[in-house]
This record gives sequence, C-alpha cells and structure tokens, in this order.
Amino acid sequence: MKLLVINGPNLNMLGVREPALYGKQDYTALCLYIRAACEKRNIEVDIFQSNHEGALVDEIQRAYGRYDGIVINPAAYTHTSIAILDALKAVGLPAVEVHLTDIDTREAFRRVSYVRDACIAVFAGHGFEGYEMAVAQLISAQA
Ligand code: DQA
Repeated sequence: MKLLVINGPNLNMLGVREPALYGKQDYTALCLYIRAACEKRNIEVDIFQSNHEGALVDEIQRAYGRYDGIVINPAAYTHTSIAILDALKAVGLPAVEVHLTDIDTREAFRRVSYVRDACIAVFAGHGFEGYEMAVAQLISAQA
C-alpha cells in the first residue's frame, strides 16, 4: 500500500507558529512521525507540503493511479477551497482529513470544511497522532 500525505499552508512553520496551539515540535518532526507510523505498518509514504492552493491541487491530481489513499491536512484551505474538494473528488482516492487542533472548538469560520465531503473520515485535535489514526483508517478501509 502506498499513501500520499499532503500538508497545506503554514504547516511548514510548526514549532514557530503559535506553539500554544500547534505545539513546539517542528515540521521535520511531523514528517519523521508520519514516516515511522507508516514504516511500522509496512506502508510506503510520500509527504508533500505547499503554501499554494494550485500546487496542492496539482499534487492531488498527480496521485491518481500512483497512490492507494491520501491523508490531507489542507490547513486554512480546509475552510475555503472548493478546488481542493473538487480535486479529491476527481481522483476518487480514499482520503482522510486531519487537523492538529480541534477545529470545531475554535473560531466559527474553522467549523466549515469544504474538503470533508470528499473524505471517509476526519481526525481533529489529536496532534501528530491524528496522522497515524488517518493511516490506520486508510489501511482498514482497504482491507
Ligand atoms: C489546521 C487548522 C486550520 O484551521 C488552520 O488554518 C491550520 C491548521 C490544524 O491542523 O489544526 O493551518 O488545519
């Protein structure tokens, strides 16, 4: 099984960015965590991060025929991007939405998720562990 993990804008600033909310560990630590979670389950993984909506759309399109599932934290684009929703629907791969924080208990505008419609599950508010939960979900969805 081969998975693609996609992270949206400002997630590359982990560790520096609002540490009270997002924690003190940096983006490299998140990538190491994701790779370890996949390795112990014998899952191949590629990880992509961009601050640009179109680059995220391009990467989702590139996943077609190459991956068995997508873990996506679209970050702020969660709450605005019909283009990312449409790209996920277009490729039709099983996708799981992840957020480090619990977006339902923050500002009202974060309660709207456009991408949710194209995802089989959502894990929010579990920090790095949410990515591992998403990987496990995609494995069980495939079985
Ligand atoms: C986030 C939550 C979003 O609302 C925010 O814009 C982010 C990160 C999270 O992982 O908690 O950039 O997706």
